[in-house]
Amino acid sequence: MTAQLRGFGLLCFLLLVFPLRAQVTPARLSEDPRTGHAIDSIIASLTLEEKIGQLVQFTGEVNTPPAGPRTQDEQRALIRAGKIGSLLNVVGSAQTRELQRIAVEESRAKIPLLFGLDVIHGFRTTFPIPLAGAATWDPDAVEMSARISAAEAASAGVHWTFAPMVDIARDPRWGRIAEGSGEDTFLGSVMAAARVRGFQGTDLANPSSLMACAKHYAAYGAAEGGRDYNTVDISERTLRDVYLPPFRAAVEAGAGTLMASFNEIGGVPSNGNRHLLTEILRDEWKFDGFVVSDWNSVGELINHGFAASGAEAAGRAISAGMDMDMISGCFLENLPTLVRDGRVSTSTLDEAVRRVLRMKFRLGLFKDPYRSVSPDLEKKTVLTASSLESARDLARKAIVLLKNEGSVLPLRKDLRCIAVIGPLASNRRDPVGPWAGPTDTNNVVTVLEGVRSAVSPGTKVLFAGGCTINGTDTNGIAAAVSSARQADAVLLITGESEEMSGEAGSRASLDLPGRQEDLVRAVHATGKPVVLILMNGHPLTIAWEASHIPAILETWFLGLKAGSAIADVVFGDYNPSGKLPVTIPRTVGQIPLYYNHKNTGRPPDTADRFTSKYMDLPSTPLYPFGYGLSYTTYGYSGLAIRSARLGTTDTLQASVVVTNTGKRAGSEVVQLYVRDEAGSVTRPVRELKGFRTVRLDPGAAASVTISVPVSSLAFTTLDMKHEVEPGTFRVFIGPDSAHGLEGTFTVSGAAPQH
Ligand code: GLC
Repeated sequence: MTAQLRGFGLLCFLLLVFPLRAQVTPARLSEDPRTGHAIDSIIASLTLEEKIGQLVQFTGEVNTPPAGPRTQDEQRALIRAGKIGSLLNVVGSAQTRELQRIAVEESRAKIPLLFGLDVIHGFRTTFPIPLAGAATWDPDAVEMSARISAAEAASAGVHWTFAPMVDIARDPRWGRIAEGSGEDTFLGSVMAAARVRGFQGTDLANPSSLMACAKHYAAYGAAEGGRDYNTVDISERTLRDVYLPPFRAAVEAGAGTLMASFNEIGGVPSNGNRHLLTEILRDEWKFDGFVVSDWNSVGELINHGFAASGAEAAGRAISAGMDMDMISGCFLENLPTLVRDGRVSTSTLDEAVRRVLRMKFRLGLFKDPYRSVSPDLEKKTVLTASSLESARDLARKAIVLLKNEGSVLPLRKDLRCIAVIGPLASNRRDPVGPWAGPTDTNNVVTVLEGVRSAVSPGTKVLFAGGCTINGTDTNGIAAAVSSARQADAVLLITGESEEMSGEAGSRASLDLPGRQEDLVRAVHATGKPVVLILMNGHPLTIAWEASHIPAILETWFLGLKAGSAIADVVFGDYNPSGKLPVTIPRTVGQIPLYYNHKNTGRPPDTADRFTSKYMDLPSTPLYPFGYGLSYTTYGYSGLAIRSARLGTTDTLQASVVVTNTGKRAGSEVVQLYVRDEAGSVTRPVRELKGFRTVRLDPGAAASVTISVPVSSLAFTTLDMKHEVEPGTFRVFIGPDSAHGLEGTFTVSGAAPQH
């Protein structure tokens, strides 16, 4: 009987472990003073137009609105003139080499181009979407996926990825919830740092590294109504305590760039927000990389009503701290006049150029503009067996078992007949999810293929689509019911198409789309054991399914190896260990609904009308943040706190004994939450402050200790300071945000005077 700790691999019964906080030593390279001098001399040698050119990014796809070259020749002419510093969406060593050659051989200043691409969750090897990555609660595995993605993309001439997306999302109607790490600031910060480390490695100049870009700065996920690009209006305290920490974690992990978000915050669009781009990012955090706009977001300052012209947009953006203009053309067209007229100072311009050149130096582009890419290197690097195995491993770990009544799962591989039903059962495109990058979906393993390759030769596998994902046609349901009737068990694969989440993928309803619910009810009516398998980017409001279907797996979009990973879990080759990184509501009427909410003066009490709740629904979610079942069961006992009286520089050490009380080995993500009983401002009812995964054989037990530096309990106080306030705290250790053993501790120190 053994207990094992993931990440440390220790065989032990008393585990003293340190939480994976966002606190990582800055991986930023110390600046070689010679680089600084080299940059200064380059800047001194540039014409005004060449300086501005370093701040201009267009897409490699010419003739793309709103601005930029209309033809290849125009594009090359702009590069030769030094008027483009970066291109996005150019892929392939041959393509990047040719354009780089023009830049470094045919232009006057010979400054290398920076090639950017959205490498969000894979390049040719497509990993699970980031929300699924967060559901693994395994930052090491997530870091590995980013490392592999970086090597693949770099071999194709990419230098810079517009990732990780680190936006906290508390509204599941927002389609881009799929691209981030969910609703929690702590988990989001841990995953942000892991992805930056993975993309950038320990040396940006290594040809297999990609420069990271933490996005979208900031609070993009707080869009009103979950409607993409919509208005954000949150307090400075909420901005700093909920939405900014993952960006801080990315910066501390050494991220070379940030991307400014489309949205405004309280009337000030991020692209022109000096408080965000300079006061916080530069003055407080000492960030020395550069900020790129989002697609045309500088130009969109006009739509916001924040600028009356492209010139005003360019002036307000660069003066706020925006360094590179993606696609709008506002910098290219207006900065020459703005600088000549003194409306933008030369020092402001030079500082932006310095930041961009600094990152090009750090990437080693001045030493080797081609980074030794070649078609051979690309062929050798992509889609290797070990990369595909990593993709399958991350996919397995991302699957969350929401329900398993009567232990319907795992299924036997030698069943006589299994029916695989649903519009996502044999689908190749959707399992890779939104922002899949240049993936070849012919490499996708569908659920039907995964099941067929897992079962015994004698098992009959029937397939019926039943209905489409989002259509109104129900003619296929009869055939699906007929297949179900012939089977010993039914796998029902339902959910969303990939374009129903991701950018501009906001949904007002989170029910199963189209006529899928009719399919589910019809198959359920056969009385056969049904396993509902969800494939989705938004959390789905599956209230009916949750009360009627015995087994439910949340599988998100799992990438190339989706079918293999799902089969591994369905047939028990992998015991599910995933935990929800987001709350799943019963209905959209409950939104916003997240675990780390405030208590209010009248917390919900069903016995008292005059408390904060809905009359027509429970106040609790369908499934809470951090929730996930296993094929085994775990018992928690013996919460112990090493020292219950702590100072602000101490570390809380809380431990529990976790016992595998079931019949299968499994891994459990042990979670630690705290509650600050009272503060100079109100505090959340729970906040995740640490977690640790422990692997246990049946009957084994382990004492798991999670350490939390008291400094991590700091928040933005009444007088807007980031401090730990003395007082009493409750600590909860358990399987999710709604359960666990409880203890208390105090933090001493002078009580705040208010
Ligand atoms: C898009 C997205 C951003 C992406 C950029 C470049 O509009 O908002 O996340 O990196 O454009 O593709």
